[in-house]
Order: sequence, then structure tokens, then C-alpha cells
Amino acid sequence: MRAPRRRATARARIVGWMLLLTGLALAGSVAVTWAVLSARLDDQVGGELGHEAAKFRDHARRGVDPATGRPVRGVDDVLTGHLGQNLPDRAETFFSVVDGRADRRSPHRPPARLDRDAALVARAARATAPEQGWTDSAAGRVRYAVLPVRVAGDPRRGALVVAEFRDLERGGVTRATRVLAVSSAGALAAAGLAGWLIAGRVLAPIRLVRHAAERIGASDLTRRLEVRGNDDVAALARTFNTMLDRLESAFAAQRRFADDAGHELRTPITVIRGHLELMDDDPASAAETRRLLIGELDRMGRIVGDLLVLARADRPDFLAPGAVDLADLTVETVAKSRGLGPRRWRVAETAEVRVAADGQRLTQALMQLTANAVRHTGADDTIEVGSAVRGARVLLWVRDTGPGVAEEDAERIFDRFARAAPSGGPRAADAPDGAGLGLAIVASIARAHGGRAYVSAPPDGGARFVLDLPLTPLEALP
Ligand SMILES: Nc1ncnc2c1ncn2[C@@H]1O[C@H](COP(=O)(O)OP(=O)(O)OP(=O)(O)O)[C@@H](O)[C@H]1O
Ligand SMILES: [Mg+2]
Repeated sequence: MRAPRRRATARARIVGWMLLLTGLALAGSVAVTWAVLSARLDDQVGGELGHEAAKFRDHARRGVDPATGRPVRGVDDVLTGHLGQNLPDRAETFFSVVDGRADRRSPHRPPARLDRDAALVARAARATAPEQGWTDSAAGRVRYAVLPVRVAGDPRRGALVVAEFRDLERGGVTRATRVLAVSSAGALAAAGLAGWLIAGRVLAPIRLVRHAAERIGASDLTRRLEVRGNDDVAALARTFNTMLDRLESAFAAQRRFADDAGHELRTPITVIRGHLELMDDDPASAAETRRLLIGELDRMGRIVGDLLVLARADRPDFLAPGAVDLADLTVETVAKSRGLGPRRWRVAETAEVRVAADGQRLTQALMQLTANAVRHTGADDTIEVGSAVRGARVLLWVRDTGPGVAEEDAERIFDRFARAAPSGGPRAADAPDGAGLGLAIVASIARAHGGRAYVSAPPDGGARFVLDLPLTPLEALP
């Protein structure tokens, strides 16, 4: 029950992160848009004030009433004349202050009555030079300018107040920002949905792999994942299938190994049991039976030992590589093998080279080969052991002048428990029975060194068993 929860979390986590990052980016762009538009609006309002101030300055400088064309007589003339001429926009209002009191205002209704704002009126009455500022009104923030005016011969002080209702202008900015925010939220929701679907699609094959892996037990390794397309997920499925191939063949090999071993060990057990059942009290036959039983038990011991070697062959610690002098190895193999039987023992070629390999395992392989050669030859036959370097390969071989190996058996005899049919030669017929494990061990040792073992038929008869290994220089040693 835990696995599905974890899977859902993976999908949610991917989409969650995506939404968080996209959301932050969109919120940032909305905030920046709002700030930029607001700053532009403030600039615009400032510009508007400057424009109104310039118009008023022009008007005051001319000093004539624009309606009648006559020179003005007092500050109220200047101010009223200007107010009559200049009509404010929707978000503006103008009014005049004369002698500390609000005097006239622009004809249409302003968004808020600033001429009733005592603080603003007092500030306008005090002003001796143009000034600007911010104030609050019933219609929001207001930016205003106070433009004082004097007329020669008139002791009164007057001022024009120009006010811009910034918050009324701001509606456009707010609307634009809101549209952007709403469409961003929509885009975010759409991205979330799309992300959820895409994450689902991407994770689905992984879920399939997991389901398949759950169904596959050691007892049923035949199932495979369906590989569709050519993307990373397909590659994952293919890798998974290759792993299953390897597992399946490894399990099959293990099973065969156990079957073969069991089968092969049953024979000596049956033999031993039969002899024990038939044993009588005659001391002579008891001694004979004892000899037979010990022989059978030795054979069993050898088979078990060989099986252990084969079982270890796939493990990384099967080899203990070191420096091996191939010439010494060749000569010593012949010296050791002489004890196996009187043959014409020869050292063929020797490779005068030291390589990185497991000398004991190589000796073990060559001794298996010389033991086989002895079993299949007679006293007049020749057995020669040789080594050579051919390019980047090292060859080690044992050659005998016995009956040789039939072509159809040449590959098979390297299998576990495989024995060739007796080739009819007198020597082969009376040779003792082997278990058929020797050449399998030879092949394993060659494989562990990265090479292979094979048998060839020399033109002048007999058999030549070869270990063909890559030449590993001493520097390769750890
Ligand atoms: N030098 C040889 N000449 C002819 N045939 C051989 C030679 N060496 C091996 N064979 C054939 O290959 C078969 C397999 O050899 P292998 O060494 O694997 O088993 P074995 O010698 O029968 O038993 P084990 O080595 O386990 O005691 C032998 O049974 C034999 O038929
Ligand atoms: Mg053998």
C-alpha cells in the first residue's frame, strides 16, 4: 500500500514545484507591471501640474483680462480670469485663494471639494513661492500645486491651487494589472493541469516497470516489459529486459548445475549402497569391497571439489592475478605431469614473457589437460606442452598423439559432465571413467581471464587443447 502513495507524491511534487516556480515568476511580472504603470502615472500627473503652472504663469504675466481685454486691477481679477478660461479635466480641480480664504473654483463639480480643506487653503494662503505636495481627499490621493500671484497696487495675496486626483487616474493601472493577474492565474492553472497530465504520462511507463518488477518473481522470470518508442523510458525498459535476460539465464544455469550435480552424485551413492548391501563375511571379498568403496568415495570427493571450483568460477575472487612467467609455467607443468604416467613428455615452444594472470589457476587448467592427455594415450605416445605470444594474445596448449576428438564433440566436451563417446582406440577404452568436469573447469579458467578454450585437430593426428587468452601486461596489476 505504501508504493502507490509514494508514486502519487512524486507526481504531485513535480507539479507542485513547477507551479511554485511559475507562480513566483508570474507574480513577479504582475508586481513589476503594476510598479512601472504606477510610476508612469505619477510622472504623468507631475507633468500635468507643470503644464497647468506654465499656463497660469503665462496668463499672470500678460496682466489683461482675457474676456474684456482690459488690464487687471487686482489678484482676484487674475485668478478669476484664469479660472473662467481654463476648464479642468475630469480628474482635476482648480480654485483660487484670496486673502487667506477660498475664493472661486472651476465651474464644474470636482470629485472632491478641496476648497473646503482648511489645511490646504491655509497652506495656499501662506505660500510665497510655487510649491507642490500630496494630500488626501474623499476621492483618494491628490497631488496639488500652489501658484501664488501678486498684482502691483493690490496689497492682497492670492494663489491658484491646481489639484490632480491621482487615484481616479489610477483606475486604468489597476484594471490593466488586474487583467494581467487574472490571465496569469488562468495560465498558471492551465500549466498546472498540463503539468499534471504530462507528469502522469512520463511517470506511467515507470509505473509499468514497477508493476512488472513486482509480478516477476524468481520462479517466473519469463515476463518482459513491452518496449514502445525510442525514448529514455523505452531505453529503461530495454535495460530492464536485458537484466531479466541475464537473471533468467543465471537462474536457469544454476538450476541445471544443481540438477547435473545431483544426478552425477547419485551414481557413486548407488554403487556404494549396492556394495554395502552385498557385502558378506568373507575377509577377502570385504577387503575388495573396501577398496572399491574408497575408490568410489574418492571419485565423489573429486566431483564435489570440481563442482565447487565451477560454482566459484563466476565470482570476482575466482582469480588472484599476479605476475606469471609463461616459460616457467610451461616447463613446470611438464615436470609435474610426468608423475601422471610414462609418456614422451616434451616442452614445445615457450613464451619468454611475464604477464598478469593467476598462475595457480593456469597450472590447474594445464594439469587437467595433461591428465586428459595421459588418459587418452599410451606409453609410446607424445604429450607436449607449449606457450606462445601471438600479437596481443597468449596461447597455452597441451598436445597429444592420442585418438583425438571427433569434430562433432569438439565444442560439447567443454560442457559440464560432457564426455565424448569412446573413440574406439584401445587406450581410450580401458581408461578409467571421468566425471566430465575437467574441460568445464579449463573453459571457466580461460573465461575468467577474458579468453576461451578450444580443441583443434593437428594435421598429423591427436588433439591439441588450447587456452587462448588476451595478453595482459604486468602494469595492469593493481
Ligand atoms: N586428450 C584427449 N583426447 C581425446 N579426447 C579427450 C581428450 N581430453 C578430453 N577428451 C574428451 O572430452 C571429454 C571431457 O573431458 P573432461 O576432462 O571434461 O572430462 P573427463 O576427463 O571425462 O572427466 P574429469 O576430467 O572430470 O575427471 C572426455 O570424456 C573425453 O571424451
Ligand atoms: Mg578430464
